[in-house]
Amino acid sequence: MSSDATSDVGTQVEAARLAALAQIASATDAAMVTKIGSELAGKKSVLNTLRASLGKIQDAEARKVAGQLINESVQQVEAALQQRTAEFLVQERAAQVASESLDLTEYVTTNRRGHSHIVTQAMQRLEDVFIGLGFQVAEGPEVETDFYNFEALNMPRTHPARSEFDTMFIEPFSSEHEANTVLLRTHTSPVQIRVMQSWEPPIYAIMPGRVFRRDTPDATHMPVFHQIEGLVIDRDITFAHLAGIIESFTKAFFGNEFTSRLRPSFFPFTEPSAEFDIKRSNGDWIELGGCGMVHPNVLRAGGIDPDEYTGFAFGFGIDRMAKERHNVEDIREMYTNDLRFLRQFS
Ligand code: DAH
Repeated sequence: MSSDATSDVGTQVEAARLAALAQIASATDAAMVTKIGSELAGKKSVLNTLRASLGKIQDAEARKVAGQLINESVQQVEAALQQRTAEFLVQERAAQVASESLDLTEYVTTNRRGHSHIVTQAMQRLEDVFIGLGFQVAEGPEVETDFYNFEALNMPRTHPARSEFDTMFIEPFSSEHEANTVLLRTHTSPVQIRVMQSWEPPIYAIMPGRVFRRDTPDATHMPVFHQIEGLVIDRDITFAHLAGIIESFTKAFFGNEFTSRLRPSFFPFTEPSAEFDIKRSNGDWIELGGCGMVHPNVLRAGGIDPDEYTGFAFGFGIDRMAKERHNVEDIREMYTNDLRFLRQFS
């Protein structure tokens, strides 16, 4: 073969190389590159066919040059195929990520305002109703002494009713200073004593607050919950006043279609004692709390003369009332702070 044949091969190689690169550049996706690739780099490709014709070049040096030219061209075409494939894969991956992505942006807008917790709302409504009935609001400490939580409420150390209150003690019991034993109050009743000690009768007080008991949480119990206590001390107060206040409260808080009833019961701090229930619109009675005429021993512990004054007291749980009112299935839901739950009560 003449040197013309060599240059002829060179021209064809160059033409094939450029054609291949142009075809690769015009591919529109990775699958197309793969298809073109099998034509451009396979055994029957133009370049490989040209390689097969190298034997026709007689001049060894010229054959070698032509061979090198083909090898370089093949390498270039393969590199271009690889690069183009990589480009498409990156693009396709980016498109997939974009189409599957979730927008997790949270917007804090100025018009989304918080609101009071469901229990706080109940507490505030209760306060409003009792203030409307002429009561004043008082508060006492959550960390109490044995004296206020039990002893002054006519429950001396040996009293069996103490075992009903699963008490959380802060300082271990010491028999020498038993009245000073420190604990978390198990009810709001100790505030009665504090109010009697610091106010002069007539007393018309309500005392809302947090109370604590060694209870395992379940659908109807929490170890921390809320109560509201009522105390009235005046001259000539009778059980009829107590029943009247409970009924007025029931109507004011729950609505005129609700009514209340009292059932005989026992509490160490009242005599006689009763439990009060309210009748909801569907006819069921729900148990709300305890009440009674303040025991003379309790009046004395509060520094009030039982011959001059009489009074009544009542107490009930707020969380359970909120639970009933809003048909909450599980009381624990009110304390897990799941905003999807809490926002229902804005
Ligand atoms: N302290 C009682 C309790 O936690 C509730 C109670 C009952 C309060 C009768 C009272 C009352 O003031 O008179 O179970």
